[in-house]
Amino acid sequence: MSIIFKQNKKLFTIHTKNSTYQMHISKYGHLIHNYYGSKVEDMDLSYLIRGVNRGFSGTPYEAIDDRGYSLDTYPQEYSTYGIGDYRSSCLTVEHIDGSQAIELIYDSHKIYSGKYHLNGLPAIWAKENEAQTLEITLKDKYSKIKVILSYGVLEELDVITRACKIYNDGETPIYLNKALSCCIDFWQDNMEMISFYGRHAMERTLQRRKIEHGKLSVGSVRGTSSHQQNPFVILCETGTDEDHGKCYGASFVYSGNFIAEAEVDQINHTRFVMGIHPEGFRYYIESKESFLTPEVIFVYSDTGIGAMSNKIHDLYRNHLIRSKFIKERRPVLLNNWEATEFDFTQEQLVDIAKTGNELGIELFVMDDGWFGKRDHDKAGLGDWFPNDKKLPNGVKGLADQIHNLGMKFGIWIEPEMINEDSDLYRNHPDWCLSIPNRQPNVERGQLVLDMSRTDVREYLYDSISKILDTAQVDYVKWDMNRNLSDIWSATLPSNRQGEVSHRYVLGVYELMERFVSNYPNILWEGCSGGGGRFDAGILYYMPQIWCSDNTDAIERISIQYGTSFGYPISCMGAHVSNIPNQQTGRTTSISTRAEVAMAGTFGYEMDLRTLNEEEKEIVRLQIQELKKYYDVIQYGDYYRLTNPLEKQELAIWQFVDKDKKKSLVSVVALRTRANAPFSKVCLKGLKEDGFYQIGDGKELYRGSALMRAGLNIPVLKGDYPSLHFYIREVE
Ligand code: GLA
Repeated sequence: MSIIFKQNKKLFTIHTKNSTYQMHISKYGHLIHNYYGSKVEDMDLSYLIRGVNRGFSGTPYEAIDDRGYSLDTYPQEYSTYGIGDYRSSCLTVEHIDGSQAIELIYDSHKIYSGKYHLNGLPAIWAKENEAQTLEITLKDKYSKIKVILSYGVLEELDVITRACKIYNDGETPIYLNKALSCCIDFWQDNMEMISFYGRHAMERTLQRRKIEHGKLSVGSVRGTSSHQQNPFVILCETGTDEDHGKCYGASFVYSGNFIAEAEVDQINHTRFVMGIHPEGFRYYIESKESFLTPEVIFVYSDTGIGAMSNKIHDLYRNHLIRSKFIKERRPVLLNNWEATEFDFTQEQLVDIAKTGNELGIELFVMDDGWFGKRDHDKAGLGDWFPNDKKLPNGVKGLADQIHNLGMKFGIWIEPEMINEDSDLYRNHPDWCLSIPNRQPNVERGQLVLDMSRTDVREYLYDSISKILDTAQVDYVKWDMNRNLSDIWSATLPSNRQGEVSHRYVLGVYELMERFVSNYPNILWEGCSGGGGRFDAGILYYMPQIWCSDNTDAIERISIQYGTSFGYPISCMGAHVSNIPNQQTGRTTSISTRAEVAMAGTFGYEMDLRTLNEEEKEIVRLQIQELKKYYDVIQYGDYYRLTNPLEKQELAIWQFVDKDKKKSLVSVVALRTRANAPFSKVCLKGLKEDGFYQIGDGKELYRGSALMRAGLNIPVLKGDYPSLHFYIREVE
């Protein structure tokens, strides 16, 4: 049993393989958090809580003579606003009289096998015997509002998920002005937050900061999870590195606004909260209605960040992503975007695909520009019917030609968007998010459709499924190329406008669910100007996400490095593109470009016709090699052997299959030097006493030698040269 309730002590304990999470019901009925960290067997940890009378930290009324009992200093399981806990709160409720306070008292609980579901929201899933759920119902001391805290426990993976439901059991409506998903209070002030910031074409750059007095907050109010901050953070103790120390990965399974906030309080405890960003958020809850928060996943490791990442990778591959492609080899892809942008004819596309086919490409993807009057980025979005100049025989005409070559065929869509220059806008100007009597903010010449509207979603489903039903489409890239602004929905009354951002996300999820469940044989790829919506929410619907619009191999090393902390390699869209690189102007060899793209879903994004014969041969071999390594890369463990942000000369990463029999080590030189010193690297994840062969070499190396003494890296010459070692156990 991973969840234990001790009635006599009113104690809830959750054990995973390597962690313990504990809380108790206090004598006044509050749910007090005892501990979350390395495993502690069979122990009531309430002794950690010390009630000391501190000035300016009050007590609940009934504890008037018990001055040490303060909600401002006791660790809380779900912190609320308005009742004397002045640290970051999770919940602000506005009652009918305008007051904003809620004090939660234990009411009841349930423990059951399997994992809870969240209606309409993505979440971790598990079979009955793979997970357990704890549901604790809390009630406001004075009103009839209930909060049901849900905990999902996947013992083997050291995973605890959290979400909650706020239920209005009273007779009058309420507003939620803030409704986060979780709070954790830690007994320490030596913690750091690792977060992943960026911008378009430079996503998920690692940043590590000490959590101190005052709030450290990352988040997004862009309507999407965003390029600028990712909804995945790591909390760790000072000194924690890839292989040592305690850390907690916290991932928000949501694709909209979010906040992840931490602070050290007045008595040097650390509080962490995560959930939907409260800015612009205001939810109206009628009597007998409820609000469900999205899920936060916690993954614990006391053997460093590397182990935490591998647990998250396994979790997402086995308990988040549902697509059948998570277990199948995905076809090697060729996308025409960087080759042609909007300017193509059917003939040209077929010609590009043909060259790809000769080299071993298996899937051809027609990107943006195939529909409506989409000859540039200011027209066409919303008109999901083929552009008859570019595709005289419709999408089917091209799809058939591609299939006749023996290849699979895919398309690009951007369902959530609309151009003013489109039939859709001319017919339904009120279908986009915009505020009456204000000119909307425009990005890339486009506006955002109001995805909270059923009629908008119906239109999108009907028009896009018409394409999917008439042509054989094997792959769809679902893009989203701007952030939300001017948020106002024509279908909601004024007191419900604070719901629109969240309703937008729910609408997107509903539409995605409809598409992916009705077209399960399509390989779906998420995208938002590259990696602007790279989050666990999207992965519930789609097994892969285009990692970045930056296809420069050297920049990609850092982007993919940052992404790997919280997401499996098999979900990172990565392609070989042309040189000089479109975004940076840098030139790298086709081998180095492929080395980097191999640490992802692997494909090409260029006009392969421009390659010379020698390069074409290299591409042919790359594709054959990739197939050899595919299983190790996509299903194995992943190790970051160097940190490319630290200006080291070599970027090195490693894959090891689950049986520790095969490993692939990739090396890219970020800087080359004359009379270069020797380099070696210590590998990870091999069998200590196994014997390994490197490539076709004759010599055998003990796993312990490769892991402790190291592997020699030859001196590499040229601009950004690369190589890899394929290592196999010899029994
Ligand atoms: C976004 C995507 C690109 C490409 C363009 C097309 O920027 O990330 O890969 O599809 O849109 O407009």
